[in-house]
Amino acid sequence: MPITQTKQGSPSRQVRDLQLATSATPATRASDRAGTALLAAWKRSGSVALVILATEAVEDGHDYWLAARARQGVGSRLMRLRHRHARFRVGRPMLRAQYERRGPVPQDVIEAVEFETPRLDAGQALVEVVAAPINPADVLTLTGEYGVLPPLPAIGGREGVGRVAELGSDAGEVAVGQLVLLPLGCGSWSSHVVTEAAQLRPLPDDGDPLQLSMMAINPPTAALLLSEFVALGPGDWVIQNAANSAVGLYLVQLARYRGYRTVNVVRRQDAAAVVRDTGGDVVLVDGEDLAEQVVEATSAAAIRLGIDAVGGSATGRLAGCLCESATLVSYGRMSGEPCAVQPNALIFRDLTLRGFWLVNWFRRTPEDQRRVLVDELAGLIAREVLHAPIHATYDVSEIKEAVASAASGERSGKVLIVPQR
Ligand SMILES: NC(=O)c1ccc[n+]([C@@H]2O[C@H](COP(=O)([O-])OP(=O)(O)OC[C@H]3O[C@@H](n4cnc5c(N)ncnc54)[C@H](OP(=O)(O)O)[C@@H]3O)[C@@H](O)[C@H]2O)c1
Repeated sequence: MPITQTKQGSPSRQVRDLQLATSATPATRASDRAGTALLAAWKRSGSVALVILATEAVEDGHDYWLAARARQGVGSRLMRLRHRHARFRVGRPMLRAQYERRGPVPQDVIEAVEFETPRLDAGQALVEVVAAPINPADVLTLTGEYGVLPPLPAIGGREGVGRVAELGSDAGEVAVGQLVLLPLGCGSWSSHVVTEAAQLRPLPDDGDPLQLSMMAINPPTAALLLSEFVALGPGDWVIQNAANSAVGLYLVQLARYRGYRTVNVVRRQDAAAVVRDTGGDVVLVDGEDLAEQVVEATSAAAIRLGIDAVGGSATGRLAGCLCESATLVSYGRMSGEPCAVQPNALIFRDLTLRGFWLVNWFRRTPEDQRRVLVDELAGLIAREVLHAPIHATYDVSEIKEAVASAASGERSGKVLIVPQR
């Protein structure tokens, strides 16, 4: 935050201006504190130097600050001074990724559109989006294949994090500048989101915001896959496929954290290293001999939980690796094929095939229990116990390229929308 010097005025005036600027209203974020303080001091002193400082606050990426002040009726004076001093950066437009239809090629149906600075109602917050991932479910939503579809037109993006930029009246406890988890389904592929302030969940400010942006869906999914189906104890084995996916890697880390051991199946050799480096105990490439590979790698351990993100014949191969009376959970459909399990596995080996959908768990679980899980996972991410690789980041204006990249296979991690300031 460049408020260490003024650009105009006598040295004594500069010092006084800075003292005024830094002793004014409290706020949680340096730039907001500076911006608000500068404005207050400027109103008292009329100093041009303070306007230059305010300019720098805005140039530091906080266009919203100027926009907010404009609505409070002082922005026009700042704007006039901006022209006089030609120091204000012209604010980037607010952008969001919108779609009005669904179709088989996801990047074809979505586009970045500008929108007006929204006026906040009581209880609302304007949040500057910091990062928002593109998950397989988002791609399926664009193609119309997901389990729940929003009415059209819709804004893409289910989850993400942002910083509170402005609050309406009666906005409760949340503070301007705070890093917050956006509410699920808010249309997070946007430069800014307007939402009910009460739905924002404050996040630890010491965590990596890009990592935290991926925390609302995949980490709880991994945690619940490990806890909801089979009572596991330290040393127990679990087997999963698509192990290099974000869910797969969170599952590896959580299993290790809880003392379980993992057999991790990937579909290509060059995806094995990341799983091994993340802490996977055994990493194997899928194939017809999967069950034999597993017997050899685990010394014929009894595996009571199988976790399937792929479907098709891959489900049957996982079933072949499980012990009698084990549970196989289908939670993803990456192959797009129906789960193919031999009836013999279900009949003679007493396997149970279950499904898991986080949306259902959220629906049936009381808010306080959900909060416990999310808070625990946020802490683990902030402490870097949980981490997911990032393949690429894109601005909202690049939404078509971003979605195309996310929809393609053989990535090295998640694709994130990171709005440029
Ligand atoms: N049920 C739920 O509540 C829930 C919640 C969250 C996620 N999910 C599901 O969990 C799965 C993983 O999500 P994610 O965000 O972790 O994924 P991700 O990080 O985007 O990774 C995608 C994974 O799918 C694999 N893959 C892609 N196309 C495939 C194909 N045709 N056949 C087999 N594997 C393929 C990829 O392997 P390569 O690297 O080799 O391409 C990679 O391992 C998705 O199906 C998602 O919808 C479900």
